[in-house]
Formats: sequence, C-alpha cells, structure tokens
Amino acid sequence: MIIAIDGPAGAGKGTLSKALAKHLGYPHLDTGALYRATALTVLRAGGDPEDPKIAETAARSLDTAVLDSPDLRTAEVGAASSQVAAIPGVRAALLDFQRGFAHRPPGAVLDGRDLGTVVVPEADVKLFVTASAAVRAGRRHQELQERGEPSIYARVLADIEARDARDAGRADAPMRKAKDAVEIDTSDLSPSEVLARALAVIEAAGTE
Ligand code: DC
Repeated sequence: MIIAIDGPAGAGKGTLSKALAKHLGYPHLDTGALYRATALTVLRAGGDPEDPKIAETAARSLDTAVLDSPDLRTAEVGAASSQVAAIPGVRAALLDFQRGFAHRPPGAVLDGRDLGTVVVPEADVKLFVTASAAVRAGRRHQELQERGEPSIYARVLADIEARDARDAGRADAPMRKAKDAVEIDTSDLSPSEVLARALAVIEAAGTE
C-alpha cells in the first residue's frame, strides 16, 4: 500500500508520516529532505539556489550523508529548498528515486508537496494535510526557539507565506491537493487526533 501525504510547511505532515509508518511497519520517505539536501549542497559550494545548472548537478549527485545533516532544518535551507524545488531539472533528477522507494513491497509512506499529483498519482491513499498559516508559523517559531535558534514570529510567518506562494505558484508540479485526496486540517487537532483520522481514511480505503 502506498500512502501519499502532501501539504504546506509546518502542517504536521512529518509528524503524521512518521507515526503512520511506525504504526503500519512501512518505511517513510520525507521527500522535502531531498530538496533540502540539494539546497544545502548548493549553499555549501557557494552557489546560487536559483541557478538551474548548479542545482540540477547537486540533485543528480546527492551524497546521502547530507540527508542526515542537522543543517537541513535551518530557515535558510528551508527557503533555498523551495527555490531549487522550482527548477524542473531538479524535480526530474529526484523523481525516479521517490518512485522506486514508493513501489518497494510491502508499501511506503511518503510526504511532500506533489506525491499525490505527480510522483505517485496511483497511491492507494492520498492525504492533504494543512493548517492555517498563523498556526503553522506558531509551530515553526516554537520549534526554532526550542532548538535555541533566534526566531521572530512575524518573520517566520512571512517566510511561511512566501514559501507557500512559491511552492503553490511554480509551473512544474506545484503544491496542490489531488482531486482524490482527503484533506485533514490540523489547526485544532493534536498529533494523536490527526493519526486517528488518517488511520480511519486508510481503513476505509482498504475495505472499499
Ligand atoms: O517539507 P519541507 O519543508 O522539508 O520541504 C522543503 C521544500 O522542498 C519545500 O518548500 C518545497 C520542496 N518540496 C517539493 O517541492 N516537493 C516535495 N515533494 C517536497 C518538498
């Protein structure tokens, strides 16, 4: 069973995907980490994340060690990942890996922006996990503060809105809810309530 989870930054996709993967005994792929690793590789080389040639080369030769770097989660890398993600050559370079991961038995949970629409439109279950920009910014702000990183709420909110606009507005594989995806708004839900809703959707898909 392939479970595709899409949605904007900070909506709780990551938390839900990890919990689902654990519950079902499936591997989980955080596809955002691939774009973040591409961006980090470009930044480390002193390159411009909007330069298609440099970004595509980085995506094609990703070093798996970069995927474990704590630097992947910084605000700077988050913004740059959204820039490299708008480059079609970067998206094409990362596509086969994501599809191969999804199709390995017994199944997989993948989260990102275009899983249900482009990467695995054949997924058995598609969820679109969202929350208001204010709630998402509040969560990110708290996360950064807990990690000891300086954070200003208004700036986090502005960054989230800019990232939403770029991710949803790009020409190639923009972030959007697949027609057959079930939307879960996590604004007023706890992680366990979100998991319960997702499991209900999966159960219903399995008994169809
Ligand atoms: O989920 P995240 O914040 O780690 O994702 C980082 C960026 O990567 C995000 O701004 C857009 C891009 N991305 C994408 O374009 N497609 C995906 N499937 C996953 C992430």
